[in-house]
Amino acid sequence: MDLNLSDKVALITGASRGIGLHTARVLASEGCPLGICGRNSDALEVAADELRDRGVPVVAVQADVTDPADAARLVDRTSAELGRIDILVNNAGGVRTSSLLESTDEDWRWTFETNIFQVIRLIRLVVPHMRRSGGGAIVNIGSSAGWHPKVQVATHYSASKATIVYLTERLALDLVHENIRVNTVSPGSTIWPDSGWDRIRQARPEFFDAYLAEVYPMGRLGKPEEVAQVVAFLASPRASWINGRNIPVDGLEQTSLRRA
Ligand SMILES: NC(=O)c1ccc[n+]([C@@H]2O[C@H](COP(=O)([O-])OP(=O)(O)OC[C@H]3O[C@@H](n4cnc5c(N)ncnc54)[C@H](OP(=O)(O)O)[C@@H]3O)[C@@H](O)[C@H]2O)c1
Repeated sequence: MDLNLSDKVALITGASRGIGLHTARVLASEGCPLGICGRNSDALEVAADELRDRGVPVVAVQADVTDPADAARLVDRTSAELGRIDILVNNAGGVRTSSLLESTDEDWRWTFETNIFQVIRLIRLVVPHMRRSGGGAIVNIGSSAGWHPKVQVATHYSASKATIVYLTERLALDLVHENIRVNTVSPGSTIWPDSGWDRIRQARPEFFDAYLAEVYPMGRLGKPEEVAQVVAFLASPRASWINGRNIPVDGLEQTSLRRA
């Protein structure tokens, strides 16, 4: 299906690997000029070259989205060099592990800075560009751990992703008359070579196999391209009647009581 995205400019945070890179690949294949970022400039340049080979202009900005100056520079360069911003995919995020009782104030601050405050900041920076071009679409990457309890996942991470789900519906209502849709995609555990889950699979095969058997009735974890395709659809005019929603992409994930 043609997603009708040709020439829509998309800004994707954290697109040098994983779900962000796969989302960038799908959007590039649909003809979207791209603004992308990551902290490691070598990995970012490799990703940017690969995406350019798909025939679209790519602005790659070495940036840490938790740094307000970097976030502003990312948005400024993308809009200046590509002329507009129609799509924002808030993909960059991170996880620290610790149980609720052992977690520190610093763990909570870091997690909310990494998964929430930078998302809010980017939305504030990008919405004026969407208003100028008459509308847009925002897709936030949440997590299945943000809408049902998974006891092996740190509470501060889950709480930050739960906040994404609230923020999405609230923001969609705030922007409903501006032709800007806002949705969340909540992936279940997603794996690719050398990803976090691949490293767990290799280091702790017994835990990995038991987790898989308990939580994923389809018998496997997700692939980043399976998440990316849903993100691209939600960002497109084909999803014009989906707004403010949280879309799980989790292979029928079951609630888990298995501690890590
Ligand atoms: N993988 C899963 O199983 C899973 C499940 C549920 C939800 N999610 C969510 O999906 C999103 C992507 O996850 P992923 O597993 O694909 O992540 P990943 O493999 O860790 O990749 C994250 C990407 O974002 C960049 N990045 C990370 N922090 C950044 C920062 N502060 N500023 C700029 N760029 C940053 C990374 O590059 P640099 O390191 O070079 O900055 C990389 O390109 C996250 O929001 C995550 O919480 C993932």
